[in-house]
Amino acid sequence: MFYLTTAIDYTNGSPHIGHAYEKVLADVITRYRRLRGDEAFFLTGVDQHGQKVQQTAEKEGIHPATFVKKTTKKFSKLWEKLGLEYDGWAETIDDRHKACVQQVLTTLEQQGQLYKAAHKGHYSVRQEQFLTDKERGEDGNFGPEWGEVVEIEEENWYFKLSEHTDWLKNHLEAVDDSVLPAFRKSELLNALERNSGTDLCISRPKERLRWGIEFPFDPDYVTYVWFDALINYVSFAGYLASPDAGLPDFSKLWTADERPVHIIGKDILVPAHGIYWLCMLHAMGFTDDIMPRILVHGWWNIRGEKMSKSIGNIVDPGELADRFGVDAVRYYLVRDIVTGKDSDFDVERLVMLFNTELANELGNLCNRALNMSQRFTGGELHPGTGLTDAETALQQSLTESIGAYRAAMDNFDVSKGLEAISQHVVHCNGYAERMKPWELKKDPANADRLATVLYHLAESVAHCAVMLSPVLPEASAKLTAQLNAEHLKDLKLDDLKWGLLEDGHKINKPKPVFPRIVIEEDA
Ligand code: MSP
Repeated sequence: MFYLTTAIDYTNGSPHIGHAYEKVLADVITRYRRLRGDEAFFLTGVDQHGQKVQQTAEKEGIHPATFVKKTTKKFSKLWEKLGLEYDGWAETIDDRHKACVQQVLTTLEQQGQLYKAAHKGHYSVRQEQFLTDKERGEDGNFGPEWGEVVEIEEENWYFKLSEHTDWLKNHLEAVDDSVLPAFRKSELLNALERNSGTDLCISRPKERLRWGIEFPFDPDYVTYVWFDALINYVSFAGYLASPDAGLPDFSKLWTADERPVHIIGKDILVPAHGIYWLCMLHAMGFTDDIMPRILVHGWWNIRGEKMSKSIGNIVDPGELADRFGVDAVRYYLVRDIVTGKDSDFDVERLVMLFNTELANELGNLCNRALNMSQRFTGGELHPGTGLTDAETALQQSLTESIGAYRAAMDNFDVSKGLEAISQHVVHCNGYAERMKPWELKKDPANADRLATVLYHLAESVAHCAVMLSPVLPEASAKLTAQLNAEHLKDLKLDDLKWGLLEDGHKINKPKPVFPRIVIEEDA
């Protein structure tokens, strides 16, 4: 089983294009794995506890539970709009998740992995957090953003993280795909060099934070939000759950045959996933052969700047989908970023990529294949009898595209996978221009040749519809319907071979699937 998760999003705000990218990427990879014939389970969800949620709810004068219900809806509605098909939905206020977190805490405590200790330090009353020297300004003082800073001593629960960091270093070095891409693993190893002697504070006294999961053996404390949130990857996969909890069978999801993949953004690799989570799993008794793979993606920025509420440059994916269509947004998000790297979000590029690669190139191919077949041969397809070098080259181009698509997608590189499809589309358009079916049509003596050309174009569209289905499910379904080839929906990647459309196959009435996006100039 292929088990894929995303980060769970904080629910103290609204989803933006960065959150959407990660979820669409996960959806595309899951759909691709199903296309490959694998069983797959995709878990996503929301992170509902913590100080920020408590503070924002307080400002609005409502209970945090009411607040998170409201904000959670914004996420789930957007995911539905963007066509995400997930199998599991994680909400950290779920009682089943709470029970799992508490069970993990109890077991770790019994095994001597936790201890209670006092910590004395500088505490920002405004931000409600302890400060370290990193937070000091150049003059050595804590800046005005921290408000009043007092020295306090507080008792808390700690997890013996430092007992696991040697193991972690060895594990990361020994297992190639522990963190992907490789340059992110180097960043993590460097961070570990600098910081491996400290333990992790995993509790907050209820006096300063109430909105969290209570410590099962010390009710004056709640669980630190990251310790709680990270456990979602196992709790919603059925870890320690009773069989009637309505959760999956953990032993089927979390396996050594196909280790789980966690998709996360670059900001939460160090320390949360790369250090805390892997050490937590190790302490919980997870063996090396079932350690997850962490796939780290880059960030969407706006003209090189971080998206932020204060700058006011947040891009709302829902609005984009209303304006340009769901497929245009999905395509842009996975096309214009190389998995792992950062990218600049730019509406003009969204429109340009849609118009060149989908409306022009693919749209042109579909138009030639479907419209001309309808007009020139009454919608009936025949492979013809005599194949020339041009057909051999076209079939060869398709075989190469399928291979390149497969290699890229297996490597989670969706942008490259789409490029592989594009290459064949470009080849087909060149072929059509050279073969000129519109000229062939003029002389009935060319009927067999005309059929061959149109068949090669239609057959290519059929293959593209299948390969594009993980990224553009709506467009792929429309193409399949116009091709009158519903059987394409059940095909697996291995079934892609020449002859998906039978001799004599009749297509349906075509209609453009990728109409050009025209932007009205601002008056
Ligand atoms: N709640 C934590 C994650 C807990 S996982 C156990 C969190 N939430 S978040 O809402 O801040 O971010 C959720 C995901 O969105 C993260 O993977 C983060 O990297 C990603 N992104 C947030 N902003 C982003 C961009 N601008 N671009 C791409 N992804 C970004 O962290």
